[in-house]
This record gives sequence, structure tokens and C-alpha cells, in this order.
Amino acid sequence: MKFFVDTADVAEIAELAATGLLDGVTTNPSLVAKSGRNFFEVIEEICALVEGPVSAEVTATSFEKMLAEGRRLADLAPNICVKVPLTWDGLKACRTLTGEGIQVNVTLCFTAAQALLAAKAGATFVSPFVGRLDDIGHDGMALIGDIVEIFRNYDQLTTEVLVASVRQPGHVIEAARLGADVVTLPAKVLHQLIQHPLTDKGLAAFLKDWEATGQKIVD
Ligand code: E4P
Repeated sequence: MKFFVDTADVAEIAELAATGLLDGVTTNPSLVAKSGRNFFEVIEEICALVEGPVSAEVTATSFEKMLAEGRRLADLAPNICVKVPLTWDGLKACRTLTGEGIQVNVTLCFTAAQALLAAKAGATFVSPFVGRLDDIGHDGMALIGDIVEIFRNYDQLTTEVLVASVRQPGHVIEAARLGADVVTLPAKVLHQLIQHPLTDKGLAAFLKDWEATGQKIVD
């Protein structure tokens, strides 16, 4: 399963990219607004930091304007993935942009029917938002199970299921169990994945015992 980070904070991305475990980045207009920075500068900097796809979202709502924005974004770097909303215009733009060889992430997916439409439009990724479904009392991970199961029935559907709006490590584990292709995580959740008090306690004990031997592996 691929791990993307869901942020427009360049420093955060640089730190995670240095681990070698980051496969891509997703941003959205709210995350860019939170960064307080120029959109184009931020996206170009992120694209230089990671080899994998960097989702940059259009803000137009009409087909023609989405196309113009998508092409402008795709010109920024070879690893740009244009993000379009799950609307009819978004799906049309997805179909046209993928036909031009541009990667497209169809976002704001909340039903399996929407995911199927995104796949039929040739999306590189479809992004079901699990956390926002949980927030309104629905079962976000059940949606992931449905989409993965449906896509598996059709070899010709190449769209990857990108689990978005992830709130906690449990979402990641469940996404992996269900066979989702990608999860995009806030940096905080990515950091939470490694944490366990017994790891910290065990390491402290090993180091204390080792120090008592007076030995060194290298000088
Ligand atoms: C995905 O691409 C979105 O940017 C993101 O996961 C939305 O998450 P949120 O519901 O926490 O805003």
C-alpha cells in the first residue's frame, strides 16, 4: 500500500520525504490556504521534494475552466496529479485530461456509485473521504470495502482507491486489510503509526544493558 501525506506544509513534507517512506502528496484548497503561501510556489516546491504524484486541486467548477486550470497545473512538474471534484464537469475534465496523459485524482467521493463513475472516467485515483463519512455517523471504511470489491470485479478498471480524510491509525490498518491501493494521511497520523510505549521502553532497556557492557559496535 502506498503512503501519501495530506498537507501543503513544505517543511512537514521534507521531513517525511527524508524517511524514504513517502510515495506521494495530496493537497486541497483548504490545506493551501492554511499554509498561507502562494499556491504555485508551494506546489512546485512539493513536486521537487517527492518523486511520486502530488495532487493539486482545480478551483474552477465548469468543464472548460477546469481543463484550463488542470493543464496549467500539469505544466508545473511531471509528477503533478490534477485533482478534480466529483461532479459531471469534473468527470468530463478527468476524461479529457487523462486522454492527454495527465494523472487525475477525483476527489470528494462519498459513494460507491461515484467511485465507479470516476473509474469509468479514467481517473488515476479516486478519493473516498472516510473521516467525513464517520463524522456524520456513516461507516467510512465500509465504503472502502465496497469500492475495492467492485473494482476487483473489473480488470479493465485501473483506477487506484486512495483512502482520504483519514483521522487515526485504525483507518490505515483497515484500509490495508481491505486492499486499498493508497492512504493519504495528515502528518500527525503518519507519526502516530510508529508509536508504541513498549517500543520506547524496550529500546531504553536494551541501551541501558548494552552501555553496562562497555562495548561499542563502531568507534
Ligand atoms: C484528500 O485528498 C483530502 O485532502 C483530505 O484527505 C481531506 O481530509 P479532511 O476531511 O480531514 O479535510
